[in-house]
Amino acid sequence: MRGKFITFEGPEGGGKSTHVKELAEQLRAEGRTVLMTREPGGTRLAELIRGLVRDEVDDPPVTRSEVLLFLAARAQVVSQVIKPALARGEWVLCDRFADSTFAYQGYGRGIDVKLLRQLNEFATEGLTPDLTILLDVPLETSRERLAERQAATATSADRIEQAGEMFHRRLREGFLELAKAEPERFVVIDSSGAREEVSKKVRDAVLSLEGR
Ligand code: TMP
Repeated sequence: MRGKFITFEGPEGGGKSTHVKELAEQLRAEGRTVLMTREPGGTRLAELIRGLVRDEVDDPPVTRSEVLLFLAARAQVVSQVIKPALARGEWVLCDRFADSTFAYQGYGRGIDVKLLRQLNEFATEGLTPDLTILLDVPLETSRERLAERQAATATSADRIEQAGEMFHRRLREGFLELAKAEPERFVVIDSSGAREEVSKKVRDAVLSLEGR
């Protein structure tokens, strides 16, 4: 039987990577085989692309290149990692996927979302998540958590994190609109509350999927 494909989406500071790890541990404790991956990333080439799109460089990609770089990374991880794992019956948890392209490059950068959907269809050969968990946080919380993480890890904001406030507002609204348009795939969780509360909601969302 094909495994389940669950993606985590949302603005920065929503705790995606924490909740991906927690869910993976819970599912493994129940005896499931779980593959965790992230986007952009998950293969050697896709991790190299991750550096290219996030690093501050003197010749940053123009928006069209940015789209194509994210999609190139996606094509790699989908064909080399995600599809084979699903075919083996594994559960695949992915930190960001196509909705990030629609929110960041579509709503954020202003590229036509319909066009992005077509390009994404090409890159993924039509692979769609069974469940997408949108960890939503208000802009202020997102900014505070990002600043805390940077202080704790002695890093600075990457190229995309540095985009202005209006960009971040648009992409958060974009995620919420995407979720509204596909309520059967998305579960929206307010991630500004306590971590345990959010974990429980993530677990409940996944339980509802197990019956399907
Ligand atoms: P993060 O997952 O560690 O937050 O880093 C990924 C960054 O790349 C984040 O700023 C969101 C951005 N991104 C896009 O702009 N478009 C995409 O399609 C993906 C997958 C990520």
